[in-house]
Amino acid sequence: MSAQNNVAVITIDGPSGAGKGTISRIVAKKLGYHYLDSGALYRLLGLASKRHNVKLTSVSCLATLAEHMDVSFKTSGQGDLTIHLEGENVTRELRTEETGALASQVAGFPQVRAALLKRQRSFAQPPGLVADGRDMGTAIFPDAPVKLYLTASAEERGARRYKELLAKGENVSLPALVEQVRSRDERDINREASPLRAAEDAIQIDTSAMSIQEVTDEVLNLLSLKGFVPHP
Ligand code: DC
Repeated sequence: MSAQNNVAVITIDGPSGAGKGTISRIVAKKLGYHYLDSGALYRLLGLASKRHNVKLTSVSCLATLAEHMDVSFKTSGQGDLTIHLEGENVTRELRTEETGALASQVAGFPQVRAALLKRQRSFAQPPGLVADGRDMGTAIFPDAPVKLYLTASAEERGARRYKELLAKGENVSLPALVEQVRSRDERDINREASPLRAAEDAIQIDTSAMSIQEVTDEVLNLLSLKGFVPHP
């Protein structure tokens, strides 16, 4: 199987809110594979730059920070993932809209993307990896044997985020969230460095009208046709 360091890598790319994170975690668990949340690395960099007062225009400082920031991903016995920056659990703070916007800005610099390349590839360890992001299939793991690209309409993705935030008790506006989804997409699609796009050999799935269970079933089906069997 040709892949990074002979480790089987499944890439799952797409815009935010398309269901990549949820599906990637489920698939990784089913196969007994490692999981790379590459968006979290950009979010961590956004947060680290804020904490260290690094300006979003100081590209070389951002790249140095990207290369050296002290981050760790820890999975509990129950399978819950927590993310740490300089020893502090920042899992919640990473998910805020503010951190997402910072991440989207730092992700636009080619020097930052280059500085995070090795770190991302180092996640490819036996028995395999599910890599979730924007450029997993195009730039980080171009030889991955299976590439998926999940999409959904901006309205649906905004509505999913709305439900998620309402459930957390946050006071949010649906039209504002849809607008945020659109402007994040625009930045991710139109940037010069590794813009968001499907790899030519990616299988595309529009999840707008699908439940998580339906997407999971379809992805697992596809994977089993390609010889990936669930972990016993
Ligand atoms: O998937 P996410 O929402 O956690 O990603 C946060 C931001 O990071 C998103 O706006 C785009 C950027 N990103 C990226 O440029 N490349 C990746 N592989 C993952 C995320």
